[in-house]
Amino acid sequence: GPAFGADIELAKKSHIQKILSRGELRVGFESGYMPFEMTNKKGDFIGFDIDFAKRMAKAMGVKFVPVNTSYDGIIPALVTDKFDIIMSGMTITQERNLKVTFADPYIVVGQTILLNNKHAGTVKSYKDLNDPKYTLTSRMGTTGEQSIKRMIPKATYKGFESEAEAGLEVINGKADALVYDLPFIGILYASQGQGRTVFLDKPFTYEPLAWAINPGDPDFLNFLNNFLSQSKGDGFYEKVYNKWILS
Ligand code: ARG
Repeated sequence: GPAFGADIELAKKSHIQKILSRGELRVGFESGYMPFEMTNKKGDFIGFDIDFAKRMAKAMGVKFVPVNTSYDGIIPALVTDKFDIIMSGMTITQERNLKVTFADPYIVVGQTILLNNKHAGTVKSYKDLNDPKYTLTSRMGTTGEQSIKRMIPKATYKGFESEAEAGLEVINGKADALVYDLPFIGILYASQGQGRTVFLDKPFTYEPLAWAINPGDPDFLNFLNNFLSQSKGDGFYEKVYNKWILS
């Protein structure tokens, strides 16, 4: 009957079919968000999300095609089919969830603060920064920016096109504090921040990170969640976690 026919059509309409027939998994991300997606000296993309993206392509029997794209336009780019999936350290927010479908979270992070040394001891939490005399930086279009606007609204905000620039501004003393995801600031502090900054490393937001796809595709979502649980069960997750997050 028509109901049965409709079911078959639905299964065929999964975006998975397009990925398989194209022979490519096109993965959208913005490189520069350590340790999830970065570019090494050779120009290759590396990181936690990238290792998962490569494994996913392999599991599908297709080629991994990285698509490096600006973070503030990443959701519109997914919606207009510039790539098949966002694997870019994206925090699940209710606002974003109205536009995209998220797989189960693969890690939980939160906002932390990299503070210029001149405020060591006087600024102890984000609440102490809620004053126009403080200039705070973050990367535009991120939850770092959102949390400044919502939770530290009186501070002066300066948004940047990359998290690296936003961090350097604070390290160089041109701004007072960077507000950003914990893993990123942890690496930045260890590599360039010591002696010049203080890392306030207690997260003040709750941010599950997840891969995102276009809505209305239960088969693709099912694939992603089972891929993630398989990767947790067979040791791959732990291997990649130890390689990028713990070290
Ligand atoms: N978790 C933050 C957010 O979702 C920052 C992610 C930035 N990711 C990137 N690849 N640049 O807004």
